[in-house]
Amino acid sequence: MQCMLGVIGGSGVYQIDGLEGASWVKVKTPWGKPSDEVLVGRLNGLPVAFLPRHGRGHVHSPTSVPYHANIDALKRLGCTDILAVSAVGSLREDYEPGHFVLVDQFIDRTTQRAPSFFGPGCVAHVSLADPTCPRLGALAAQAARAEGLTVHTGATYLSMEGPQFSTRAESRMYRTWGADVIGMTGFSEARLAREAELCYASLAMVTDYDCWHDSHGAVDVAQVIAVVQANAAAARGLVARLPALMDPDRQPCPHGCDRALTRAIMTAPDK
Ligand code: ADE
Repeated sequence: MQCMLGVIGGSGVYQIDGLEGASWVKVKTPWGKPSDEVLVGRLNGLPVAFLPRHGRGHVHSPTSVPYHANIDALKRLGCTDILAVSAVGSLREDYEPGHFVLVDQFIDRTTQRAPSFFGPGCVAHVSLADPTCPRLGALAAQAARAEGLTVHTGATYLSMEGPQFSTRAESRMYRTWGADVIGMTGFSEARLAREAELCYASLAMVTDYDCWHDSHGAVDVAQVIAVVQANAAAARGLVARLPALMDPDRQPCPHGCDRALTRAIMTAPDK
C-alpha cells in the first residue's frame, strides 16, 4: 500500500520546507471544514499533506479546533500515517524548554470535545491501551535526533481543555499522576486517528515548565512563543527528514493501528 504522511503542525510548524509541487487544497468533510486548507506535495518522493492545527494565523483555540474534520480530511486525501507536532509544558525537571518529547500515553482532562466519530446508530469501541503508533514514533524520534534535537521517549501527556493554563494545584497534581508533559490538543487527535485506522505519533516541543516549578514563574504566551520561534527551524527540519525514513510501499502496521476497527464495532450489521 502506498504510504502518505500527514503532518499536523502546531505552534512553530506553520509550513513545510522543501515540499515539491506543493499546493493548498480545500477539503470538504461530513464533519465540516478542517482548520485550514491542506498543503499537499512530495518530500523525498513521498506524498505528504500538511495541515496547520490552529489554522494559518492561529485562529482556532484548542477547544474550537475541528478535530473530526481535520482527521477526516487527512484520511480522505489518502494519508496512512500522521505526525502531530505541538507545544507542551514540562511537568519534569529533566524535560527542558527546547527539548522534544515522543508521547506514548495520554491522560484526558478535556471537557468540551466530542470524543468519537461513532455515536448513536453505529457504536464502536477501539482500543486506546497504546494510543500512538510505535513504528511511526520510532521514525519520528530518529528524524528528530538526526536533526540534532534532544528527544525524550515514553512520555505521558496530560491533555487539558484550556485555553487558560493550569493552576499550581492542578500542575502539582498532574505530576503526582505520572504525567510528564501538558498540552491542550494531543489526545483529541490521537483517539480520532485511531478510529480512522491511521498510525499517529505525537512529537511535542517543550516550551515551558508549566507553573509547578518553584524557580520558574507562571507560564505566559510570550515565553511559549519565544521558545517556539527559537526551535521552529529545527522542528521543520525534523519533519523534512521523516519521509526519507518511511517505506513508500507501506507494510501493514505491526501494531494494528490500520486495522483498529476490525473487532471494535458493537452495532449489529443490519441496524
Ligand atoms: N502548551 C505549551 N505550554 C503549555 C502549558 N504549560 N500548559 C498547557 N499547554 C501548553
